Amino acid sequence: MASVILGIETSCDETGVALYHTKQGLLGHALYSQVALHAQYGGVVPELAARDHIRKLIPLIKTLFHDCQINTVDGVAYTAGPGLIGALLVGTSVGRSLAWGWQVPAIGVHHMEGHLLAAMLETPAPPFPFFVFVVSCGHTQLVHVAAVGQYTVLGESVDDAAGEAFDKTAKLLGLGYPGGPAVARLAKQGNPDTFHFPRPMTRKPGLNFSFSGLKTAVLTTWKKAPVHDEQTRADIARAFEDAVIDTLAIKCRRALQETGLKNLVIAGGVGANQSLRQHLSALGQKMNVDVYYPRPIFCTDNGAMIAYAGALRLAAGEYEPLAIEARARWSMNDLPLIQKKS
Ligand code: KG4
Ligand code: ZN
Repeated sequence: MASVILGIETSCDETGVALYHTKQGLLGHALYSQVALHAQYGGVVPELAARDHIRKLIPLIKTLFHDCQINTVDGVAYTAGPGLIGALLVGTSVGRSLAWGWQVPAIGVHHMEGHLLAAMLETPAPPFPFFVFVVSCGHTQLVHVAAVGQYTVLGESVDDAAGEAFDKTAKLLGLGYPGGPAVARLAKQGNPDTFHFPRPMTRKPGLNFSFSGLKTAVLTTWKKAPVHDEQTRADIARAFEDAVIDTLAIKCRRALQETGLKNLVIAGGVGANQSLRQHLSALGQKMNVDVYYPRPIFCTDNGAMIAYAGALRLAAGEYEPLAIEARARWSMNDLPLIQKKS
């Protein structure tokens, strides 16, 4: 029987909602980004994020129901973790309470499972098994997806995520927030040969990343530079971007070689970076690997991926007790595998 699931995402600084129909697909989705609210602080302020989710979530749900001409749902899925605890508590409390009021099941979704499955909302969807490269502000992870619920993290950042490194570098160079697009824009004017930054952890075997050292390299180079003009800034931005992208591409190639997988999905906000896309597409062609780029709105935090993952979990008979549970930390290894119905 077909069902409609409401999805709610509030783990960080985006309030996302969506309605997913198990037969018709995505009925609609809406997003409110808090970027402008946090811009003056140069990063997400957790307390402000939680307060703004409270202000925006219910009006966003009301508008979504109105736009989709939907009055009832068969389940409410919400991000239960990992993420900022105050922000998570807004989505979990509202989601769990709506489900109780409507007398439908509530489904607590793992945020990363949402990201890993988001590409399945697109046509064509990647076939299992596939490989997801999540490159965002919160995560840099290489994940092998064998089936729904069967995830193996092959590599991840031991310190800053790639997006975080872009944001911190932007701050050091006096650019705006979020820093990724600003650094990328400036890098276009930079000379690739003026400065050279290391490609961290690429000489050692393994698939982990470390980006915190690059930020120190940027700071030292900027301090030592004889002239502090726009060209120096652009040259540093270029050297930084080249270092991050080279590092990501080297590890991605290594992971594809080690696993032999032929389907690669790029997720996360840094996936919007043109130079990264060019590198990974070229890599895909060279290695005979199909590269999938979900539309940008499904790469960053959104309600659609939560509605979709929730619909799969509900179909497998999973739902929450009445208690409201949010987890700031939550290992993907704790997720149960969804058995395929034969
Ligand atoms: O996926 P996302 O919303 O972050 C998390 O949910 O964790 O992605 C936002 C991140 C920010 O760090 C932003 O600076 C970065 O993606 N970003 C970029 C670009 N566009 C966004 N980084 C590099 N180049 C870009 N063009
Ligand atoms: Zn995310």
